[in-house]
Amino acid sequence: MEINLPAVLPEHIGIIMDGNGRWAKKKGLPRTAGHTEGAKNFRRIARYCSDIGIRYLTVYAFSTENWARPAVEVNALIRLFQEYLEEAIRYFADDDIQVRFIGDTSAFPKKLQELIATTWEVCKHRTGMVLNIAMNYGGRPEILMAARKLAQKVQAGELRPEDIDEDSFSNELYTAGQPDPDLIIRPSGENRISNFLLWQSAYSEYVIMDILWPDFTPEDLNFALREYAKRSRRFGGI
Ligand code: FPP
Repeated sequence: MEINLPAVLPEHIGIIMDGNGRWAKKKGLPRTAGHTEGAKNFRRIARYCSDIGIRYLTVYAFSTENWARPAVEVNALIRLFQEYLEEAIRYFADDDIQVRFIGDTSAFPKKLQELIATTWEVCKHRTGMVLNIAMNYGGRPEILMAARKLAQKVQAGELRPEDIDEDSFSNELYTAGQPDPDLIIRPSGENRISNFLLWQSAYSEYVIMDILWPDFTPEDLNFALREYAKRSRRFGGI
């Protein structure tokens, strides 16, 4: 593939991996087949982002609302997460990607929680791209978690209410210490935030693309990067 990348790349990209179900339906397959294909594509796009030098990638894999789906679909997603983490732990020894998790992972089955803990042990010293996998993640629950932690600090006399500012708030989020996403890509054509990185996306540039996630290629990512490079980011200034 000829790589036609703009000079200015985002430091942090967020992706809402949407459209697996519709992809499967179009092909007359069960929804779970769409997730299997989506998981394959997740590997390809994460690798590509790392190869072109993106420093942070956050993917939305399972929202706090996704528990409402049929058990067969939730279980299929959990199996795909497990497969990926087993692979990441066993075979990616030479890989430099630092896999992290954002969201309340304590709600997942014990086996997946153990894999999450082992993945972190294997990855924590890596210096390459940070790959945040959002699992049982919701922007509102995350903001509530941060508010509760700050309230506890105030109650314990460790913090004064007037010292709560954007930095201290950001430091209580799952993404503490990481830059906010510069670019958020939503394939599948839906024009919604869907509870993704609500606090962190205050100034993110959105690129919505009419492509279902399993069909989203590195060339589509390049398109989003070129769109991003054309935008003039003013952060509320002029
Ligand atoms: C939304 O599409 C997608 C999800 C709820 C799941 C995303 C998960 C993956 C791509 C697998 C990730 C795997 C790993 C290993 C991180 P949808 O099913 O809501 O699509 P629809 O809107 O077309 O129904």
